[in-house]
Amino acid sequence: MARKKITVIGAGNVGASVAAYASAQELGDVVLVDILEGIPQGKGLDMFETTPVLGIDTHVLGTNDYAATAKSDVIVVTAGIARKPGMSRDDLLSTNVKIVADVSAKAAQFSPDAVMIVISNPLDAMVYTAWKKSGFKPQRVMGMAGVLDTARFRSFLAEEIGVSVEDIHALVLGGHGDTMVPLTRYCFVGGVPVTAFVSPERLEEIVQRTRQGGAEIVGLLKTGSAFYAPAASAVQMAKSILLDKKRLLPVAAYLSGEFGESGLFVGVPAIIGAAGIEKVVQLDLTAEEQVAFGKSVAAVRSLMQEVDALL
Ligand code: APR
Repeated sequence: MARKKITVIGAGNVGASVAAYASAQELGDVVLVDILEGIPQGKGLDMFETTPVLGIDTHVLGTNDYAATAKSDVIVVTAGIARKPGMSRDDLLSTNVKIVADVSAKAAQFSPDAVMIVISNPLDAMVYTAWKKSGFKPQRVMGMAGVLDTARFRSFLAEEIGVSVEDIHALVLGGHGDTMVPLTRYCFVGGVPVTAFVSPERLEEIVQRTRQGGAEIVGLLKTGSAFYAPAASAVQMAKSILLDKKRLLPVAAYLSGEFGESGLFVGVPAIIGAAGIEKVVQLDLTAEEQVAFGKSVAAVRSLMQEVDALL
């Protein structure tokens, strides 16, 4: 069987980390594309030269030419500018919408059967952009946000409780931003409700830190935004597609009536397999969760209007 092929667009901090993680996990051959000359070539070659040390047989190629991406199984879009201190994810919209429109159209043309994972921010608006410009069915376009948000929540909780990160299960709904909706009643530690370990007040503080998780890293780095955890999160999604694992993960998926909403991409739990989003998993929300989700949906819709005006 031929190896799988993964295209990563944008060879910056996030894209290079996606390529490195995907290659190290032997998920397939990786093609790293950027507009900068030399950067994708240099990083790709450096990664390929890592493979004998890691004992893996995946090729990594860096290029400026989309022809090399042809017939990819998964396309990961990371092109765009990253946040600086004081900027919200939404501030990136006007610059990144043009970049994501351009790269997603080009990549889709060479890999019409791929599944696309978008990481560029503002996330929910960029997934919408990529979907419009790729011409892909909505099931084959998704955004990486919930896996990262839950990873942050799980890390903080594991540290607080003194338990393995592996034993914490959590779920975040809604847009990737200040309006995200962590569902604490679905948070379990080895099957035991989190409330057996953490007081409601402390849990709320951890939720707040999770909401601000991206800004916390931007504040520390000053010159850019998080990349290791975002990249690892997207690679977990790519793995579920490439190996048809059918993992149930929180992702930005297109809704057609689920959760009472249609025509937008927003964070929901979904089963991810070879076909992309194979099923959006519906949940009954409490009145409070419904209000929070509604706010998040409204924020995403207003960004979509801005995208439509720019495209
Ligand atoms: N085509 C290809 N690559 C592009 C294009 C384009 N039209 N425009 C920009 N790029 C590349 C840049 O040359 C750069 O190498 O995208 C890369 C972005 O890398 P970084 O500046 O390091 O940004 P990064 O931290 O990787 O974040 C990328 O992911 O998490 C989000 O908010 C983040 O939107 C940002 C994106």
